[in-house]
Amino acid sequence: MKIALFGANGATGRLLVQRCLASGYEVTALLRTPEKFPFVDRVQVVQGSAFDSAPVRETIAEADVVLSALGAKSLKREDVLERAVPQIVKAMQETASLQQTVRRIIALGSAGALATSLDKQPAWRRWIVQNVVYNTFLKWPVASQISQWKDLSSSGLDWTMVMPPMLTNGPGRGYYRVDGDALPRNGSRIAREDVADFMMQQIGNPQWVQRGVYISW
Ligand SMILES: NC(=O)c1ccc[n+]([C@@H]2O[C@H](COP(=O)([O-])OP(=O)(O)OC[C@H]3O[C@@H](n4cnc5c(N)ncnc54)[C@H](OP(=O)(O)O)[C@@H]3O)[C@@H](O)[C@H]2O)c1
Repeated sequence: MKIALFGANGATGRLLVQRCLASGYEVTALLRTPEKFPFVDRVQVVQGSAFDSAPVRETIAEADVVLSALGAKSLKREDVLERAVPQIVKAMQETASLQQTVRRIIALGSAGALATSLDKQPAWRRWIVQNVVYNTFLKWPVASQISQWKDLSSSGLDWTMVMPPMLTNGPGRGYYRVDGDALPRNGSRIAREDVADFMMQQIGNPQWVQRGVYISW
């Protein structure tokens, strides 16, 4: 199995790299700063930005599956997903005419991407999360996730957008709730380890293809 990995040097991305290597998968990672990447000797590195078509094309060229854990550094407007996801989608679509067609992408998103994400929350919580968190504090990350949703859901590819609430760095629990319609009731956090495990499981799972899926403790 050959994996193209975007955001490999991020907090969730590194967990994905570890899991891919443990599974015996070959990884090609697009990195802006390979010298800061701890797995540099164990993966194939393409140096560059996900905003540029040539390195994105090179990263996915031989892949069976694309994983993305791209994200911004801050809560300010950075437009990372707005600029990177169209490049990835376009590069994958272009492979349709090649021998190695790359159709499967599993992307890390966030629970804020869709207006219906809070449908299973109690009314008081829905109001606070929508108005205080999504509309204010996380305004720009949510805008980026809405953009990623639009790009993936209109791509025609075999996409899955994994949509957790707040991510934590502690150990995974190995169990969590999964819901295709909305964030599980009172779900407020989940460890990046559990998210990475779930993303890995989607590689061979047809259940959430061309869908978003919420996961939360
Ligand atoms: N934090 C939360 O509580 C939370 C909750 C739900 C969802 N999410 C979403 O989860 C995703 C990943 O989160 P995380 O905390 O694991 O990410 P992270 O540690 O911030 O890592 C993001 C990665 O994206 C890479 N990247 C950004 N712009 C790039 C570009 N132009 N070209 C190539 N690589 C680029 C960064 O590369 P460099 O190493 O070069 O900087 C970094 O490795 C984000 O989309 C975030 O919105 C986060």
